[in-house]
Formats: sequence, C-alpha cells, structure tokens
Amino acid sequence: MARNPHYLSQMAHVELLSTNKEETVRFYTDIVGMDKTGEDATSVYLRAWGDYFLYTLKITQSDKKGLGQIGWRADSAEALEDCVAYLESIGAGIGWVEKDLGRGKAYRFKSPDGHTHEVFWEVVWFRETGDRKSIYTDRYASNRRLGACPRRFDHITYLDAKFQYVKEKAFWKGMGLKNPDEVRINDDIPPVGGLWTTGNLSHDIAVFSDPNLQPGEGVLNHICYNVDSREEVLLALDWFTEKGYTSVWGAPTRHKADEGFFFYIMEPHTGILLEIYACARLIFAPDHGPDVHYLKDNPNDAWGLTNPFAEMDKGKVGGLAKPIDV
Ligand SMILES: [Fe+2]
Repeated sequence: MARNPHYLSQMAHVELLSTNKEETVRFYTDIVGMDKTGEDATSVYLRAWGDYFLYTLKITQSDKKGLGQIGWRADSAEALEDCVAYLESIGAGIGWVEKDLGRGKAYRFKSPDGHTHEVFWEVVWFRETGDRKSIYTDRYASNRRLGACPRRFDHITYLDAKFQYVKEKAFWKGMGLKNPDEVRINDDIPPVGGLWTTGNLSHDIAVFSDPNLQPGEGVLNHICYNVDSREEVLLALDWFTEKGYTSVWGAPTRHKADEGFFFYIMEPHTGILLEIYACARLIFAPDHGPDVHYLKDNPNDAWGLTNPFAEMDKGKVGGLAKPIDV
C-alpha cells in the first residue's frame, strides 16, 4: 500500500464559542443557510448541504467568544496512532477525549501559539432522509438554495503573535502539510505567515502573525465556506446585505495569495468572521511551493486597496476596526 507522507486527511470541523448560542445558530441557519444536524446540552452541530460528515461547524455556549477547537481527520486509524506519537514526541499533546456526536475518540493538541486542535479517525457519515434528502446519490443532503447557500467547509485562518510564525511553520511542516503560499515582509527576516494544506485545496489552514498579539494570545480570525462560482459569491453578499449585514472589508475581491474570490461577514456573538469563497487555485504536486508574497503587495486583495495587514500595523487586532461586542 502506498505511503502517504502526512498524518491528516482533511480539516473536518471547527468549534466556535458563542456568548449567545441561539443567536449564532440562528445566523448560521436562517441567514447563512446551513442545516442543524445535531444538538447536545451545550452545543449545536451544523453543516453545509454539500458536506458529508455529520457536522463541520459546532457552536458551543460559553462566557467567552472565539475558538473552541479545530478538528482534523487522520489519514487512517494507523495514521491517528502515528500522529499522536509524533505530537507527544514534540510536547504538543494534551490528551485523549471521549467520542463526540459526530466523531469517535479524539486526541487534543496545541499548535505553537496555543490554538487547540483535535485529531480523530472515526466519523459519522450522515445522509439525510425526508425533506432534506437529495436525488443525487453523491449528495448527502439536497441543495435547497437556502440563504447564502454555501456548499462545503473549506478552511480556517488563525492569528499568532509577532515572531511566532516561524514556530508555526516548523509545526505544520512536521505534521506533513504542504505550504503553497508564504508571506514575508522582506527576505532579511523570517516569514510572517503562510497557507498549509493536507491535500489539494489551496489551504486547510492559514496562519498569520499579528503584531498586536502577545505569545499565547493567538486568536481565530475566520472560518470559510466554499461556493462553486463567483456569481454565487455575489448572490450571497446581496443576500447578507438584504438582511442588514455588511461586508467587513468592502466589495468582493480576489486574494492575491490563493486567488480565492471572497468577502467576510462578522458574526458578533462568536467574534469570528465568516468568509464566503470560490475559485481558489488547487494544489496537486507534493513538492509545490511555497510561492512567496510580500506584505507591500497586499496578498489579501489583488484588485482593491483593503489591506488587513496594514491595519494590523496600525494597532487593530486582526485588522478589524474594533472588537465586536454584543
Ligand atoms: Fe480565508
């Protein structure tokens, strides 16, 4: 059997902490158009119509906003054991946790600037019946054209403290991810960010340094759901606008790093941006990259002038005007 050089097969879900779970769930179901697929005492489980596992987004009631944890599926049961041994060998492990509503037992770990992750193999594949059933065998739910109508979970981006990215780069390289894009200020100092992927997506995870953060204060910046076309990105923003939401950094534009066409909406009770995104490049070669981008060229926006990195340099965490508090 062919050897796969990495432990992980995909980013499978993300958990967001909300100070108002009901309102966050209402946003992701009524406005975004995702399906509620499960619920327990503290959390609600959601997915887009094109996702295959029981959930890709978990909303958990909390007294603080932000990231709960990032969930990765291993390549196999054996890869899970190898991954845990590797994480323990580098001191990144936290420990095993019991099975959740949509996955088997998982091993929790921390990336270098303190973001919490979990890795698992067993998952619940969930095919809808009844009103959500699709006539397509390969769709596990039908496309009912609800809300912004994202198709599938794509990636997340988190921020780490100044000078910490070099540790993140070593960590994700050690986990066997590919590094298609890298962001630098210049070639005389270490890079300040990069994109990392397990497979063919432009990235599963992007990591950027924010000079406003101290070590250990790393935060989640955004989660991203994909649609199939630029037209659907435009229709989605029109829908959010009709519902009273504003695109955080203006009109839809195209990332210079990864080429995704996108916009962001803020969900205030989690404090986390939602990105709607289409048409990013794909990565196939195992030895691709990194392609190097420089901050002066604004890797976030190929067509416009909005530069979150420049805003970070003005003292704004995540490049955002002010912390959102509701
Ligand atoms: Fe993104």
